[in-house]
Amino acid sequence: MSQHTKSEKDFSKYFQPPSLTDAKKRGKEDIKVHYDFQIPDEDKELGKDKHYLIQTYGCQMNEHDTETMKGMLEAMGYTGTEDRQEADIILLNTCAIRENAEDKVFGELGHLKTLKLQKPGLILGVCGCMSQEEAVVNRILKKHAFVDIIFGTHNIHRLPSLLKEAYFSKEMVVEVWSKEGDIVENMPKKREGMRAWVNIMYGCDKFCTYCIVPYTRGKERSRRPEDVLAEVRDLARQGFKEITLLGQNVNAYGKDFDDIEYLFGDLMNDIRKIDVPRVRFMTSHPRDFDDHLIEVLGKKGNLMEHIHLPVQSGSTEILKKMSRKYTRERYLELASKIKTVMPDVVLSTDIIVGFPGETDEQFEETMSLVKEVGFDFAFTFIYSPREGTPAAAMEDNVPLEVKKARLQRLNEVIATFSSESNQKLIGQVVEVLVEGESKNDANVLSARTRTNKLIHFVGSRELIGTIVHLRVTEAKTWFLKGELIETPLQKTV
Ligand code: 5AD
Ligand code: SF4
Repeated sequence: MSQHTKSEKDFSKYFQPPSLTDAKKRGKEDIKVHYDFQIPDEDKELGKDKHYLIQTYGCQMNEHDTETMKGMLEAMGYTGTEDRQEADIILLNTCAIRENAEDKVFGELGHLKTLKLQKPGLILGVCGCMSQEEAVVNRILKKHAFVDIIFGTHNIHRLPSLLKEAYFSKEMVVEVWSKEGDIVENMPKKREGMRAWVNIMYGCDKFCTYCIVPYTRGKERSRRPEDVLAEVRDLARQGFKEITLLGQNVNAYGKDFDDIEYLFGDLMNDIRKIDVPRVRFMTSHPRDFDDHLIEVLGKKGNLMEHIHLPVQSGSTEILKKMSRKYTRERYLELASKIKTVMPDVVLSTDIIVGFPGETDEQFEETMSLVKEVGFDFAFTFIYSPREGTPAAAMEDNVPLEVKKARLQRLNEVIATFSSESNQKLIGQVVEVLVEGESKNDANVLSARTRTNKLIHFVGSRELIGTIVHLRVTEAKTWFLKGELIETPLQKTV
């Protein structure tokens, strides 16, 4: 653990920055689960008449961490605001996955400096994945000394104490544990709307060579099944309509238990029996996607027919360089096995183009895999070197122009697939969860199909939060249009 204050001039003497070398030497020591989290009574008034604003970057894991931080701040009496001028605390919950995510945060810190000069009492904090990177922490210490708190992804539960410290001492507080954290249960969470995220595990042990996550989020550790199931039951009782189980690699769930044999398929099988209308999960790794899980997902019910299954590349050689631990053939086999058990499944994926040394032929293998699997949507990225990862040391001989051209071709083929698959739905009846008014027209409602496709239809606001049936009338590239039908006469999808 490292902690120090702004008044200390030579930070290096007092502060051990998070270290990638240490992160890689993760031990086998037991992970402790803490059930005693509490906000002390004396801190519950600390935020009276004060406002907070949390700006979140990156993935759902960060969004969910933000819900936890909001929960803690509200338990301390703070009120949320969207107005920076009104805020007494601004936290940036950052993402480190690609360089442009980091650039955005440094740009934002520049703007916040001006605000801080106008309002010296403002507390500014940086948390999330960037604060787990030693280069970033050092840069903030040297160039953005007006920041009041930096804390890491393993230190979220410490926010109330760190804040108090920052308030009363008005000195920079840095607390980043480079060693993975334990599991802290019972932190308050501020959830909004009808959909809720539930962490089932933390961290990642896959060490894909391009990825910073195993270093910023620590080693794989699963929440105990009884804690996950209790949380899902409680959310169901509260009336949430959709639950998304979260983990960097949900398929590794339970592999770290040494007292019980209970894997992701077992968890899904138990969650399937809970009375909550919809259950999804993010993100899968093809390597650990086992037959039992496929069999459980095939039972459908509240388990949705959408699987996000990142492939990253269609070339076995590139997959090897990425250390993905599966081949092109193995991925194709898995996709076809899933489709056999769930013929109406929609598969989506993540793809990186321009990995160091990726040849034209290897990129064409990605294109052909995409066509063979027929993904309905995909998140596509140009490779971004991340300091300290093995890929960052590989020779990157693919010119940026080539990478951009590959990305464009890939996006075009994915758009074609999405459009074609949407066209096929015209005339069919789909079961949807009505999520809210559409952004552009208050008379139009937005909903999601079981396969996670966006669909708009005209309907009354009272339908928001309910599950209804729509007939698909029009197909666009990335969304559908439909009309409400009272009772489904045809088979629904
Ligand atoms: N460069 C580009 N994309 C990356 N991803 C992860 N690391 C990098 C990187 N260094 C992508 C992967 C992953 C998604 C969340 O982000 O496709 O699945
Ligand atoms: Fe990163 Fe690979 Fe872990 Fe996903 S599985 S978080 S890409 S290291």
